[in-house]
Amino acid sequence: MRGVLALTGAMVAGSALAVSALPAGAAPGGQAPSITKEPFGTLPDGTKVDRYTLTSGQGVRVRILTYGGIVQMLESPDQHGRSTNVVLGFATLKDYVDKNGGPYFGALIGRYANRIAQGRFTLDGKTYQLAVNNGPNSLHGGLKGFNTKVWKARPVKTDGGVGLRLAYTSADGEENYPGTLTTTVTYTLTRGNELRVGYHATTDKATVVNLTNHSYFNLAGEGTGDTYGHRMQINASRYTPVDDTLIPTGRLAPVKGTPFDFTRPHAIGERIRANDPQLLIGHGYDHNFVIDQDRPGRLTKAARVTEPGSGRVLEVSTTEPGIQFYSGNFLDGSLIGTSGRAYRQGDGFALETQHYPDSPNHPSFPSTVLRPGQTFDSTTVYAFSTVSTQSRPSGLAWRLAR
Ligand code: BGC
Repeated sequence: MRGVLALTGAMVAGSALAVSALPAGAAPGGQAPSITKEPFGTLPDGTKVDRYTLTSGQGVRVRILTYGGIVQMLESPDQHGRSTNVVLGFATLKDYVDKNGGPYFGALIGRYANRIAQGRFTLDGKTYQLAVNNGPNSLHGGLKGFNTKVWKARPVKTDGGVGLRLAYTSADGEENYPGTLTTTVTYTLTRGNELRVGYHATTDKATVVNLTNHSYFNLAGEGTGDTYGHRMQINASRYTPVDDTLIPTGRLAPVKGTPFDFTRPHAIGERIRANDPQLLIGHGYDHNFVIDQDRPGRLTKAARVTEPGSGRVLEVSTTEPGIQFYSGNFLDGSLIGTSGRAYRQGDGFALETQHYPDSPNHPSFPSTVLRPGQTFDSTTVYAFSTVSTQSRPSGLAWRLAR
């Protein structure tokens, strides 16, 4: 087994001295948090791509590529302490380059996550035309979004965990967006098994920005089949219905009485084939939910997902006002994932924290405009834990924790 350099604990930033050798596949449990780096491949233009492995010391291990800031693997223990990879992805850099343009597995998305209608918006009287790459619309930053960039990476000090700071500067006019956008994204893995993602951006001209991470989860394990049995709860009493090209109509519609009501937990598959015009448009769930925030910008619980078989639980909190619940509808079996199995419809779901889609064309939505002198700051936390799903000695069936 190949050894990799391990920087342990809180001393990671700038110090190359206190290193120890850890086997590449070392079991993560019960150790100090650590971060290691290894080569992952070379792009056709000769650029080298690295993979960082962050270990919480408490069972969670996450692997992040400098290419696209992609979360390539995320291992998390089940209720018996058995770890498995719970995110969809690919095994090789070549697959990410050749095949990730459709699904965006694990990737950082920018400059504008989700859709902009007709790829067009007007800001301060000037109209910008973006590349149209999804039907008539622009999706996820255009032809070469942040998911295709090689980010500068450095380990950073954090309180009680390990961090990786990624930096990318998007030139004025890149993908036709105005302004030089200086962006950093910091992934932190805490001892509490939380993956925190901090987004920060500034600009030198007025622009629009909407950043997210596009991980697909399967808490039973990547490649084990569909996620329709996962129980989903979303802290949203409204969502943004869409037209037939998945652009919001502008209405914030109540979820009450519809298959979009996840205010109490429901299996993803329970109502996914209901005869609901919105589900028909999306081929399932592919909608932005309006998070019930007490105060805009405050870290708020957005979603909680439980997988009954393994007992794994994922909780997503965010400072963002919206979350796109995408139930993996367009996975069609043509992509072979990390462990060599084909991904079919519903085999993973994404929970993309974000501002609402097409906000630049909806003045009533929370603004995505960023001006010189302002900073875009946003935090999303993915917390991994377990619940016991075993029958109790009393014979009581397992019930969800709430
Ligand atoms: C979109 C889907 C799209 C998926 C992969 C999601 O954010 O809402 O419509 O298929 O990303 O590109």
